[in-house]
Amino acid sequence: MAPLWSSASVVLSLSLGAAAWPYSTYSSMGFQPPQLEVNQTGTTADGLLFLGPRGGVQPAGQAALIYDNAGNLVYEGPEEVTANFMVQQLNGSDVITFWAGDMLDLGFGYGTVHILDNTYQEIHTVTLTGDFVTADGQTRESYIDLHESHITPQNTLLVTAYNVTQHDLTSVGGNSTDYMLDSHFYEIDISTNEILNSWSALDHEDQIPLTTSHQKIGVSGTSENPWDAYHINAITATNHGYLVSLRHMWSGFYLDHNGTIIWHISGDTGGDFAPSGNTNFSWQHDMRVHNETDDGLILNLFNNANTGSDSEGDTTGLSLSINLQDKTVTGLKSLSDPNDPIKSVSQGSYQLLGADEDANVFMDYGSISKVKEYDGNGNIVFTAQFGDDNAVASYRGYRCQWSAVPFWKPSLYVNRTSDGASVYMSWNGATDYDSWNIYAPSSVNSTAGPQIGNATRTGFETRVDLTDLPTNYIQVSALQDGNILGSSEVVPF
Ligand SMILES: *[C@@H]1O[C@H](CO)[C@@H](O)[C@H](O)[C@H]1NC(C)=O
Ligand SMILES: *[C@@H]1O[C@H](CO)[C@@H](O)[C@H](O)[C@H]1NC(C)=O
Ligand SMILES: *[C@@H]1O[C@H](CO)[C@@H](O)[C@H](O)[C@H]1NC(C)=O
Ligand SMILES: *[C@@H]1O[C@H](CO)[C@@H](O)[C@H](O)[C@H]1NC(C)=O
Ligand SMILES: *[C@@H]1O[C@H](CO)[C@@H](O)[C@H](O)[C@H]1NC(C)=O
Ligand SMILES: *[C@@H]1O[C@H](CO)[C@@H](O)[C@H](O)[C@H]1NC(C)=O
Ligand SMILES: *[C@@H]1O[C@H](CO)[C@@H](O)[C@H](O)[C@H]1NC(C)=O
Ligand SMILES: *[C@@H]1O[C@H](CO)[C@@H](O)[C@H](O)[C@H]1NC(C)=O
Ligand SMILES: *[C@@H]1O[C@H](CO)[C@@H](O)[C@H](O)[C@H]1NC(C)=O
Ligand SMILES: *[C@@H]1O[C@H](CO)[C@@H](O)[C@H](O)[C@H]1NC(C)=O
Repeated sequence: MAPLWSSASVVLSLSLGAAAWPYSTYSSMGFQPPQLEVNQTGTTADGLLFLGPRGGVQPAGQAALIYDNAGNLVYEGPEEVTANFMVQQLNGSDVITFWAGDMLDLGFGYGTVHILDNTYQEIHTVTLTGDFVTADGQTRESYIDLHESHITPQNTLLVTAYNVTQHDLTSVGGNSTDYMLDSHFYEIDISTNEILNSWSALDHEDQIPLTTSHQKIGVSGTSENPWDAYHINAITATNHGYLVSLRHMWSGFYLDHNGTIIWHISGDTGGDFAPSGNTNFSWQHDMRVHNETDDGLILNLFNNANTGSDSEGDTTGLSLSINLQDKTVTGLKSLSDPNDPIKSVSQGSYQLLGADEDANVFMDYGSISKVKEYDGNGNIVFTAQFGDDNAVASYRGYRCQWSAVPFWKPSLYVNRTSDGASVYMSWNGATDYDSWNIYAPSSVNSTAGPQIGNATRTGFETRVDLTDLPTNYIQVSALQDGNILGSSEVVPF
């Protein structure tokens, strides 16, 4: 494919560089997650860090990853490209959800949404089928795009999808038989994969004119490189329907349940609202609704303010108050780190870490492989980096409270030494254990053996060196407050 100036941001952000960033290795597991460089300067909210790094990391580190504040790995999922890895509530229980699949260099993807319980058992695999036309001509088992995997209060799932379609693009500098991407979203029944509702931006061309797109058609417009007029990237369930973010329109659209557009907010003109204060945004991600009433709502978003071809300013976390009575939009908050201004050309997320507007805010900077947390006054309290800028990306990143006891056993690797053995213990994904007991069973089939050592947990993997061992077998147990939560296999050495 020829270089595409019009989607330079996409080429920059999704065709990511070679691995150079330092990574960790372990003896008890074959993982190679990127190391986190952490600067904590204040009090963070509770919770662990959920990231999905890709590109520029070791293949055995490109996965859904959980870290603690000190940068220790807590969990690594299967090796795959992921997005939206986070904790959500399903039917009143905490679950982890993430998208996995193919990300295309064009800036969208085809995949499935995985839902895991607090033992990491996959309890739902959500797919989307239909007569989708793909940019690479291949058919897929599921056409869920990477950009959204949001569980609604009704326990349904909101996802996005991109469909290639031929359209008259003469109004935007193309021709009458050009190809474009339509932006769809679907509300899906999680248990049955039944489509409960769907929406297409192109079906609303009268209210969302193609000429209002900020994405230049450039050399796009072919079936392999269709023009990405809208770039849908976030859907929130609202009191009356949905709030849809269209990045290339610099806009959010509030829809009725039936898909009718009720109002829209624009990052440069205000749209249906008169702007007051700092309300400008462009190329945004992760637009979310809070405190919705019939009189108004709070809109939080990740304001990239940049693409590869256009820079409006520094990337900010933006909080806006929309007044539906007097039709105004007012800037409440614009977050950035004065000591580390960032221009993120793609991706990113904004997470309010509580119900109050003055709760901490956690931001993932997308194409810049950093996460930052701000306190209620907008002061930076935490920064972590997991790759080189524009080489490693995480589409979104979150801080989530998560407590899990995996269905699998702890892992044990025993390395014989001249007078004993080095014992390496880990339990991928286990959040709440504080120590290890070490036993010397008499055979691989022996379930009990005398305890020969113990140790306080040290991060992901704990190492203990032992001498004068009574048998050639080791077994270990992970404990919390003296109670055994899980035991490894018996390992000969
Ligand atoms: C086992 O010990 C040897 C000798 O100390 C060392 O070279 C090797 O890296 C160790 N293996 C693992 C997996 O830690
Ligand atoms: C995708 O677009 C094609 C071509 O316009 C159309 O035939 C097909 O129905 C669309 N798919 C969906 C799921 O809307
Ligand atoms: C949620 O609970 C309801 C009622 O028990 C059940 O019918 C439904 O299948 C559950 N949904 C999911 C996604 O587990
Ligand atoms: C329209 O433009 C495409 C390239 O985007 C080209 O392949 C096609 O031949 C053009 N069609 C007409 C009718 O000019
Ligand atoms: C869809 O919702 C809008 C706004 O609530 C309403 O005016 C319109 O009549 C509805 N259309 C249909 C087809 O139900
Ligand atoms: C917001 O964007 C508009 C349109 O580009 C511009 O005229 C205005 O100066 C901007 N306002 C601020 C506060 O930057
Ligand atoms: C929602 O409203 C409550 C009550 O007015 C307020 O305390 C809280 O800060 C608001 N949350 C947001 C996100 O604005
Ligand atoms: C952490 O702080 C040091 C010293 O100010 C700085 O050099 C480094 O870039 C910072 N790293 C991150 C990830 O903020
Ligand atoms: C362990 O048990 C398995 C299955 O019962 C048996 O085949 C094997 O011989 C036993 N090994 C030892 C060392 O006792
Ligand atoms: C190890 O065992 C000893 C003796 O039972 C106990 O006093 C100590 O607290 C244990 N240490 C750890 C880290 O569990």
